[in-house]
Amino acid sequence: MIWPLNPKSNRRPAAEQPAPSRPTAKAPEQPLFPRMRRNRKSEWTRALVRENVLTVGDLIWPIFVCEGVNLRQPIASMPGVQRLSIDAAVDSAREALALGIPAIALFPYTDPALRDESGSEAHNPDNLICRAVRAIRETTPGIGLITDVALDPYTSHGHDGLLSGEEILNDETVEALVKQALNQARAGADMIAPSDMMDGRVRAIRAALDAEGFQSVQILAYAAKYASAFYGPFRDAVGSSKTLVGDKRTYQMDPANSNEALREVAQDIEEGADIVMVKPGLPYLDIIFRVKDAFGLPTFAYQVSGEYAMIEAAVANGWLDGDKAMMESLLAFKRAGADAVLTYYAPRAAKLLRGG
Ligand code: PBG
Repeated sequence: MIWPLNPKSNRRPAAEQPAPSRPTAKAPEQPLFPRMRRNRKSEWTRALVRENVLTVGDLIWPIFVCEGVNLRQPIASMPGVQRLSIDAAVDSAREALALGIPAIALFPYTDPALRDESGSEAHNPDNLICRAVRAIRETTPGIGLITDVALDPYTSHGHDGLLSGEEILNDETVEALVKQALNQARAGADMIAPSDMMDGRVRAIRAALDAEGFQSVQILAYAAKYASAFYGPFRDAVGSSKTLVGDKRTYQMDPANSNEALREVAQDIEEGADIVMVKPGLPYLDIIFRVKDAFGLPTFAYQVSGEYAMIEAAVANGWLDGDKAMMESLLAFKRAGADAVLTYYAPRAAKLLRGG
């Protein structure tokens, strides 16, 4: 459609004007402007012209797991989110299944006494995550189980990789990540999600999984993961905020970059990622859009802890309507092209979507 629609206001030079129509043929009056509001006049027509929808099937619920029994520890910077002992996490998995949430993503709060320089607890077949995976696998068949591959919940320095002096070693870390991924796959993880941002880890993990017979275990690559301030509350939840030495800017992406995200994603696809992820979410909707547009692969977004905390803080102050802000923020991911969203709001949004 060409704007403006009214030929009378068309400023083309006189010579270019079309010949005047026959005076007797009375052309229907052209509207002076498009009435966009017509399609919005009531809910039935808004429903008909709606371009994007959020469904329960779009949600992935990240869950923090801790030691103990029947424990639900609040996380101060994430109101409404708790660390759950394995039995409580099983209850949440059952709840997710009942709500129709397709998958949960597990993150451990590792006992500080078990953290060391190399994150060796990541390789313990009886570590918290492996036990949680087995418990959920046994009790809740049908729920998708996603586990995070990165060393930060296990290292004394809070980095995702192995540290030598001030440097995060790439290739040595990849070897450790491969071991970690196999450990999770053996416990029964359905989808392995490397969030570490080392180069070459997707190829190495894929090769190792295949070699051990885990051909059907998917890889969800945190392909474009930015060095973001919005991970703060997550680090409280997994207990790495106090221990983290320095920052993660030598491996996570510079928030200033966009073309680089496409290269990261292309690389992970080439290495064997089944699904790619952009993280954080709302501040990086442009990246989600570009990634989906360029590759058309299943593309997930992570509405990270700080995004959740921002909304909840405003709600606690009475400044935002929580349900509305939640649903609008989640729908934005669909509009940008995301196929699914990892969000701490998953159970709440699911309940709302199911009309309760
Ligand atoms: C760990 C990891 C982080 C998140 C997911 N996996 C934190 C980080 O990279 O420091 C952040 C999730 C969130 O903030 O909700 N590699």
